[in-house]
Amino acid sequence: MSERGRGPIFAAVLAAGKGTRMKSNRAKVLHTICGVPMVNYAIAALRPLEPERTMVVVGHQADEVEEVLPEGAEPILQKQQNGTGDAVRVALEALEGVEDGTLLVVNGDGPLISDATLADLLNRHREAGVGATVLVAELEDATGLGRVMEDAGVVRIVEERDATEAEKRVHLVNLGLYAFELRDIRRALGLVGSENDQGEVYLTDALEIIGRQSRAVTCLLKNPQEANLVNDRAQLALAEEIVRRKILDAHMRAGVTVRDPVSTHIEASVEIGRDTVILPGTFLRGATRIGSDCVIGPSSDLLDTVVEDGALVEHSVGRGAEVGPNATVGPYSYLRPGTRLESESKVGAFCEVKNTSVGAGSKVPHLSYVGDAKIGQGANLGAGTITANYDGRNKNRTEIGDGAFTGVNTSLVAPVKIGEGSYLGAGSVVNKDVPPGKLAVGMPARAIRNAPNRVKEDTGKNDERADRTETEG
Ligand code: UD1
Ligand code: CA
Repeated sequence: MSERGRGPIFAAVLAAGKGTRMKSNRAKVLHTICGVPMVNYAIAALRPLEPERTMVVVGHQADEVEEVLPEGAEPILQKQQNGTGDAVRVALEALEGVEDGTLLVVNGDGPLISDATLADLLNRHREAGVGATVLVAELEDATGLGRVMEDAGVVRIVEERDATEAEKRVHLVNLGLYAFELRDIRRALGLVGSENDQGEVYLTDALEIIGRQSRAVTCLLKNPQEANLVNDRAQLALAEEIVRRKILDAHMRAGVTVRDPVSTHIEASVEIGRDTVILPGTFLRGATRIGSDCVIGPSSDLLDTVVEDGALVEHSVGRGAEVGPNATVGPYSYLRPGTRLESESKVGAFCEVKNTSVGAGSKVPHLSYVGDAKIGQGANLGAGTITANYDGRNKNRTEIGDGAFTGVNTSLVAPVKIGEGSYLGAGSVVNKDVPPGKLAVGMPARAIRNAPNRVKEDTGKNDERADRTETEG
């Protein structure tokens, strides 16, 4: 048998409870903070300690919780939620036969606990050479938390509901994080009953027993911000505010300008290049990646969207779209999945684009819907150009060749091909392919003569980027 605190490390994250105070149909630990389920924060904080095993005790909505767990986290089922002590018993059963080692127990509802704090807890436990160590904090408002009384190697925790008036006045609280020697916690949990207000098996009772048998100590939390545990939605919002600001700070330190951190929401998964400016009211979520020198916002909402260097996205929504280098989007456009804007292209005001590639330098400037289309390079779609891509049964494709030009209010009835360099008159309804280089007009449009040459007319025309670029100020 090794000395106390010298064996391997195991971890148990307690996440089987319902979280009654959330008043939710969803288990508490599934509620997200900056896009990440709460339980995964505790798991991430444990990772640098490299536990031999990271067990997650699941119960309420076990399947849904299992689904969100990261690789390496091992779900252990607690069939009935009989209390925190019972949850640890279940974890210990999964460690049957392992005699030596330290078990770190972490509540699943403390998303702000850092890896540094867990390392502190472990060090304190090892140096003290005791059977158990509990993380505590001195809080001004201790409401709802277990109060901690420490005396000569015995740490006693009283739940608020079981506390006397004098005990309620104690401000030292239990944060629900512990280091236990395996053999001590096993023995102690064998002795714990459920004589308390909730009729549950309290892990805190085991802590007191260990104190009497082989000493227990407290470890004081250094950063009080981490003591923000989540039991209800007000606390959830508070935790999110803190995590959100941390994410923003990291981006700002890496060279991203965030004009208004209060109204900017960036999920942990998002990447942003340097010198990009994020304007107020912007949401960047999921697998979104933004390059450098971009301007995003104001009021843009991008989910799983890639924006390459130098692009502008103003007052727009992206869902699974790709915006190429120096492309411009908005104001007020909606890029749906499968949209790919090539370099220097433009999707302008009030447009919707879906499953469509817009070629380099092509413009869809005003009030268009383009779906299931391939637009070549240097094409220009007139205001109100619409692809009729859906015939009620099938989605059909539209192809628009390089340099093509459509007049205002053109309807492209798919499947249809608009040839390279062709020209469509205003209001035309195109239901047959237009050959390259032809001018087509009317309803339905028919080819009447050669298209005007518009290549010359376009040169020297300044793009609209200048008036949309953020001026530093
Ligand atoms: C617990 C502590 C309390 C401490 C507080 C910190 C006990 C008896 N009390 O109280 O001293 O101040 O945490 O947050 O331990 N869980 C299970 N299975 C169960 C019951 C709970 O996995 O059968 C999980 C929950 O999902 C949760 C964690 O354990 O993540 C804590 O449970 P909760 O009911 O929130 O405990 P508290 O009443 O807050
Ligand atoms: Ca709790």
